[in-house]
Amino acid sequence: MFIRNAWYTVGLESDLDAGLVARTIMNEPLVMFRGANGEPAALLDRCPHRQVPLSQGCLHEGQVQCAYHGMRFDHQGRCTHIPSQVAIPQRAQARAYPLLARHGLLFAWMGDPERADPASIPDHSVTTAADHVGEMFYMHAKTDYRLGIDNFLDPSHVTFVHPNTVTSPALTKAVPEILRNGDEVRARRVMREEKSPPMLERAMGLTHIDRVQDAIFMPVGNTRIDTRAHAPGRPDGMSMRLSTLGLFTPETDTTCHVWAGLYRDFALDNAQLSAMVRAELKQTMVEDISICEKAQSAWDPSHSVLHLAVDQASLMAREILETLQRREQQLQA
Ligand code: FES
Ligand SMILES: [Fe+2]
Repeated sequence: MFIRNAWYTVGLESDLDAGLVARTIMNEPLVMFRGANGEPAALLDRCPHRQVPLSQGCLHEGQVQCAYHGMRFDHQGRCTHIPSQVAIPQRAQARAYPLLARHGLLFAWMGDPERADPASIPDHSVTTAADHVGEMFYMHAKTDYRLGIDNFLDPSHVTFVHPNTVTSPALTKAVPEILRNGDEVRARRVMREEKSPPMLERAMGLTHIDRVQDAIFMPVGNTRIDTRAHAPGRPDGMSMRLSTLGLFTPETDTTCHVWAGLYRDFALDNAQLSAMVRAELKQTMVEDISICEKAQSAWDPSHSVLHLAVDQASLMAREILETLQRREQQLQA
């Protein structure tokens, strides 16, 4: 069961440079492209004629042309051309989904289009902020998207899963303060004179740091880890801010799409550091996805699960998702 009335990250805006992009979201195949008006568009990836995936066809002047009999559909899914006849039947319509680009990301609305309010697109403005540098990349995970959210909200695993990048016994032990603001959950951990995790030591050149880390959740699948760090006791000295985004969008019940990126506000022109950060975040994400896939493949819903103190933020996020789902069911009733 998915929450439909919400914006989901479904790609990078630059993905559309390739033409037709096929991607399954919440068990529904979508084809995305840039329409004749230059705006992103998404249709159900199924020709209303004989159900051939539209993504198998081609883009013809901002319209999708089906690979089988050449029917064409515009950005709203309206059929504009049938090569074998002049009349266009009323039912010659492909389902269209609201699709918008913000901050270099594509967001699709999978529910009632009437309820699609662009103002509710999650704020990922750090990805295009002039005082930050970083980049997003895509990964696929064979897990329920909620396991990805759990993973980002629970940094206690870093010591065991990420020995070469973000390991930190101090972070594992830190007791979080949980802050809730509407549907946003924030788990704040404060570390003093912490031995720098290897990746931060390489990035900052400091063996020890004071660090505040916020693991943030925003429905439906948005997480971000905001870090502020500086030399121990030296907030006036070299300091840094880092934002690591993890955007999880359900593909099916047990698989998801992941977009991740790390944005920093220091050494903006250091290309070598950018390459290092990207490679290390990728390694970290591979490790996260690997451990989550192990949990997913062993998952038996008839077994109860144990919750630890560290799961508080994840449990709150689950509760918010369940409330949103209940509200949506009430709307449909
Ligand atoms: S199946 Fe698409 S035009 Fe016939
Ligand atoms: Fe991790």
